[in-house]
Amino acid sequence: MRKKIVAGNWKMNKTYSEAVPLLYEIKDLLFKSKKAESVIKIIAPPSLYIHDFYETTKGLKNLFVGAQNCSYEESGAYTGEVSATMLKSVGAAYIIIGHSERRSYFKETAEELKKKTEITLKHGLTPIFCIGETMEKRQANEHFKIVEAQITDSLFHLSPADFQKIVLAYEPVWAIGTGLTATTAQAQEMHHHIRSLVEKKYGNAVSSEISILYGGSCNEKNAAELFACPDVDGGLIGGAALKAKEFIEIIHSFPA
Ligand code: 13P
Repeated sequence: MRKKIVAGNWKMNKTYSEAVPLLYEIKDLLFKSKKAESVIKIIAPPSLYIHDFYETTKGLKNLFVGAQNCSYEESGAYTGEVSATMLKSVGAAYIIIGHSERRSYFKETAEELKKKTEITLKHGLTPIFCIGETMEKRQANEHFKIVEAQITDSLFHLSPADFQKIVLAYEPVWAIGTGLTATTAQAQEMHHHIRSLVEKKYGNAVSSEISILYGGSCNEKNAAELFACPDVDGGLIGGAALKAKEFIEIIHSFPA
């Protein structure tokens, strides 16, 4: 059975005094929700809040804390960087890798993302690996090719045992923070394409078990129809993850 996952990527939002009450609000709503228990819930705040968030959410079923990035180096003289082992030591269980904002603003390359994925797996953390095309590439009908290259270049060197530990997140760049969402047909088509690529490379046992999340203006209004798509296993949520009620409603949006 594929895992159902809703991950909240808080990005660079909320000061500490704003973040803590929001987390408590989410926690209270989750405590009251039986329906949310079976869903894997991940909250990825700015990394300096991870330890607090981990301590505060201990005991909540299937709730994990994640990081939004990590260094591809183990440790040492890399000023400003945070390593996978440091993130693990303060309670992170997942690391978002290759988000389009990191690819575009911080010029992260396929080779760097490959190393980040490797180091994350090496230390027993789960990568949430992001892929997705720009509007320009979609309009040029190159979206399938782009996504295939992103997966091939950074992930297809992995052994089947390692690859199956990864969570994939399809985030069309044109849908991130824009209010534009992929239609269910577009999301399903791409998720199916991604699963087929994985099947071709690693076989059905791996492809049928890997979770592929949708991200890009996913909210409490459109989550149910997106999560009803056969190849969509949940969401990677930006803006709507910063509102407790909306985030819980998204978690409640899986088909029964
Ligand atoms: P929005 O949900 O704000 O569009 O952001 C999506 C995202 O980038 C999650 O990683």
